[in-house]
Amino acid sequence: MKIAIASDHGGINLREEIKSLMDEMGIEYEDFGCDCETSVDYPDYALPVAEKVANGEFEKAILICGTGIGMSISANKVKGIRCALVHDVFSAKATREHNDSNILAMGERVIGPGLAREIAKVWLSTDFEGGRHENRVGKITAYETK
Ligand code: RB5
Repeated sequence: MKIAIASDHGGINLREEIKSLMDEMGIEYEDFGCDCETSVDYPDYALPVAEKVANGEFEKAILICGTGIGMSISANKVKGIRCALVHDVFSAKATREHNDSNILAMGERVIGPGLAREIAKVWLSTDFEGGRHENRVGKITAYETK
């Protein structure tokens, strides 16, 4: 499993925290910035990373900004992306099992690093359940391709 990770200036500290979690979990990742604390525009990071997931270059991605909202709105504009904005552990598990979410968005200004690590850990290690959920996710894909 190879993960792409990126943040805007509002998410750089949490991005480092999640990178260290992936190091501990032995998960391969590539960091797509941002490289500085000066203000940047979240779509400039969300859209290229989402495209890398949509085209299969990366299996999944984690996007972080101040709230996670800008990143998730942007990523979900890319066909094939199911980006879940998650700030609790229950939803982290459910969105993998039920929605087969392929991008996780979080907000550094919303939750602390301990909870964010738990969310990312569960999201990264939970499989899609398939079954009845396959049909539902399939309807989203069908809508995108009509
Ligand atoms: C940046 O100030 C902030 O707007 C951004 O990180 C994010 O929260 C947008 O949704």
